[in-house]
Amino acid sequence: MSVFGVRERLLGLLRPGQSAQLAGPERVVVRFVLPSGAEGRVMARVGETLLRASSRLAVPIFQGCHDQSCAECLVEMSPGGEARACVVTVPPGGASARVKQLWSMEQVRGDD
Ligand code: FES
Repeated sequence: MSVFGVRERLLGLLRPGQSAQLAGPERVVVRFVLPSGAEGRVMARVGETLLRASSRLAVPIFQGCHDQSCAECLVEMSPGGEARACVVTVPPGGASARVKQLWSMEQVRGDD
């Protein structure tokens, strides 16, 4: 589990009812092709954003804003073309996306 997945786990422990809801039956595989060419797969709930699903990768998709305005989170959906990971949601049947930018340690630390 990445450090970015800790928040969701803690919320599940603090709110067991919500945890059961989060672990609901509509979970599908999302495949991410990372900038390095490596592949990462995570389980995701249908309807959650790709950005949120990527929090289960070792390093999540870079998030440049909180109002869907920066386009730093662009991914290439297959099929579907370019989309903002903070907007596009996981469809029934799962998804496949080529990631353009992940968080760097400098960005996490706020050094850039
Ligand atoms: S994080 Fe800025 S548009 Fe998605």
